[in-house]
Amino acid sequence: MRTPLIAGNWKMHMTVNEAVELAGAVARLSSDARDREVMIAPPYTALFEVARALEGSNVLLSSQNVCWEEKGAFTGEISPVMLKDIGCSMAIIGHSERRHVFGEDNKMVNKRILGAQKFGMVPVFCIGETLDEREAGHTFKVLESQVREGLVGVEISDPATIVVAYEPVWAIGTGKTATVVQAQEVHAFVRELLAGMYQKNVASEIRILYGGSVNPENVDALMSEEDVDGALVGGAALKPELFDRIIHFQ
Ligand code: 13P
Repeated sequence: MRTPLIAGNWKMHMTVNEAVELAGAVARLSSDARDREVMIAPPYTALFEVARALEGSNVLLSSQNVCWEEKGAFTGEISPVMLKDIGCSMAIIGHSERRHVFGEDNKMVNKRILGAQKFGMVPVFCIGETLDEREAGHTFKVLESQVREGLVGVEISDPATIVVAYEPVWAIGTGKTATVVQAQEVHAFVRELLAGMYQKNVASEIRILYGGSVNPENVDALMSEEDVDGALVGGAALKPELFDRIIHFQ
């Protein structure tokens, strides 16, 4: 049984006060969520206060990235130990904006995943093809190298220790969602890949989220697909009334 996970990636939005208010709203909206999990990933500056605002709620807290080292000369980075220290249990890694705007490659993504796991954080490992790659017919090849290179040396014996998120780059922030058929096709492919890399009973339990313009109108159809185990939501996660409907997908 894969428990659905609805995750909000707030990206570079929200001052501390705004974040605490939104987190409080998400905590209230999620209080009746029994058969699903809810996670939010505020910007670093708000994590500490948001962690306090989430105390006693069932909302999980994630960072939007994480360094692979515990401490040291890594200007501008935040370590998994620091994040765990403030109550952050998950870390988004390899998001398309990290890859395409900040030049992070599969190798760096791999280091971050290894680092997160080493210190007991759950990586939300993002993969996704660009429009050019899809149109050139390279979708599966690109995703396969992202998965294989991103997971070099990563041991997964407990499926709860990692989450994969498929976010087609062309669907992020564009209002253009993958069709449910496109999403299911990729999710099934990724699960098959994982089954070849890890024990089958473990791979079959790893959650694979879909991200890219998820909204109240398309969430039910996406979540009805066999291998879609949740959503990684950007824009709509900033609006409580939209995120509410997404959390309560049917
Ligand atoms: P949007 O939902 O705004 O398309 O963003 C998706 C995303 O990048 C979540 O990580």
